[in-house]
Amino acid sequence: MANPVLAALSSAVAFSYGILVMFYYWSLTVRSGIYFRKSTAAFRSELATARDRFWNLSKQSNSLYHRFLTLHDGFKFHYVTNVAPDDSRGATASKPLVILIHGFPDSWGIWRKVLDSTALRESCSLVAVDMPGYGGSDILKKYSATEVLDKFTEFIVALRERYGFDDPNNEKPREKVIIVAHDWGAVISNRLAAEAPQLADRFILTNGPLIGLVTSNIKSHDSSAVKMLKIFLHSPLRSRSMLGKALYTLRPVLRQVLLSGYIFALQLPLPFIRIQGTSGDFAWLRMVHLLANGTVDDYTVKDATESMATSLGPSAAECATETFDHETYPKGIIKQQFSEKFINMVSYYRHGTSVGRWNKSIETITALHSLGGGDDLGRRSSRAGVFDDGPKGALRAKATVVWALNDHALDQRLNLDGIGDYLVHNSQVISLPRSGHFTPIERESGVALQKIVEWAVAGEKEDVNSVVQAVYPGASVTLRT
Ligand SMILES: *[C@@H]1O[C@H](CO)[C@@H](O)[C@H](O)[C@H]1NC(C)=O
Ligand SMILES: *[C@@H]1O[C@H](CO)[C@@H](O)[C@H](O)[C@H]1NC(C)=O
Ligand SMILES: *[C@@H]1O[C@H](CO)[C@@H](O)[C@H](O)[C@H]1NC(C)=O
Repeated sequence: MANPVLAALSSAVAFSYGILVMFYYWSLTVRSGIYFRKSTAAFRSELATARDRFWNLSKQSNSLYHRFLTLHDGFKFHYVTNVAPDDSRGATASKPLVILIHGFPDSWGIWRKVLDSTALRESCSLVAVDMPGYGGSDILKKYSATEVLDKFTEFIVALRERYGFDDPNNEKPREKVIIVAHDWGAVISNRLAAEAPQLADRFILTNGPLIGLVTSNIKSHDSSAVKMLKIFLHSPLRSRSMLGKALYTLRPVLRQVLLSGYIFALQLPLPFIRIQGTSGDFAWLRMVHLLANGTVDDYTVKDATESMATSLGPSAAECATETFDHETYPKGIIKQQFSEKFINMVSYYRHGTSVGRWNKSIETITALHSLGGGDDLGRRSSRAGVFDDGPKGALRAKATVVWALNDHALDQRLNLDGIGDYLVHNSQVISLPRSGHFTPIERESGVALQKIVEWAVAGEKEDVNSVVQAVYPGASVTLRT
């Protein structure tokens, strides 16, 4: 039973820490000059151009098309694709389908570098989707695990159908479905790979935590530290080295708490969140994008405005546009202030999306069941006994984890130690030593990611280690299962 005094105390500590972090970020934006630097007229016009390029539904910028997919309850997903709207289903079904899912605080635009690959454009159907509450997709009332994961499942199943998969009358050999995901997209995809593995043939997951693994690593660090502390307290003089050892063991956990300070700031009451998302002319977002870059030297106005356009989503101007088939943005986001959108984006942290129970709807169960029939998944699940299931949250589909080691948001040891127990046969972990958290957009890691997707699309024939090293010297496959 939770002690109410303890609970109140810990929420007070979390609140104070959140406030502290918020002020810390605010001071960072002030000290770096971002906060009071008013955007110039040139920046504003460049931003308007970027938003038009990313969000004007009647434009085919860079040969990408805007499309919507409406679920049974009317919820609308927005996505961008290389597949021309008049393409017959037969043509697309003979190519792999690649679904790209972004993270916080982005949208489909974070994949702009990966989408540029001509090899991918020619060899597969690309779908870069906006998560609920982000970019041009609809909003949810609650971002619980059940709401979000049911929505994604229905979306992926409907996409597979739209692009000619799972059709019993289709005689052509079945092509693959690949899910590529970053940050929060990867948190969600980890859950799909664990709890709905039949949705895709391979998951490529970059710099998003596998919550079950991180939790178990934190627990084991905590419990060893507690044991050492007990020994120390029992005879402080004789075992004083234990104090140092305990602190050393706790280091990754403390480091993660510091690195995740923003998560505490995002738990604050909504008025704080509105201020955080918008004050100082979006100073917080501008700083995140700047830091996302690693080196500041080659950060151009184009980079800055494209990143902002990615986070901000369509403006009122783009909300008045429509697609070739007269689809418009969902009602929920037309006239929406950015402070409200920001609250939707942040809700994933607040509503327990990553850890809550996924109570699958009957429709989800039925849809997954019909996908599972016939292929090797049926065999796998009949073989999997109590002991083969692996630890809680273990993935049950083939996965390629691509991890940039200079991630300032996620501690490497907590996220990677023991990951092998969570992966099925024919999975791998690839590490990128010089890149930070935003792998899809950083120059070196963006290309590496692009090549890894190309490798998967081309049937995984080559050795992925040489594929990635050819474009990113020093990168390596650190684990194969
Ligand atoms: C959207 O793009 C179309 C086609 O390029 C253009 O005619 C229209 O003015 C744009 N709409 C807005 C609101 O910018
Ligand atoms: C799970 O969802 C169904 C409806 O889809 C509902 O009837 C049931 O009460 C839910 N169970 C839990 C434990 O939330
Ligand atoms: C910085 O980010 C921009 C996109 O926002 C990207 O074009 C550029 O390559 C990045 N620089 C590095 C060093 O990754």
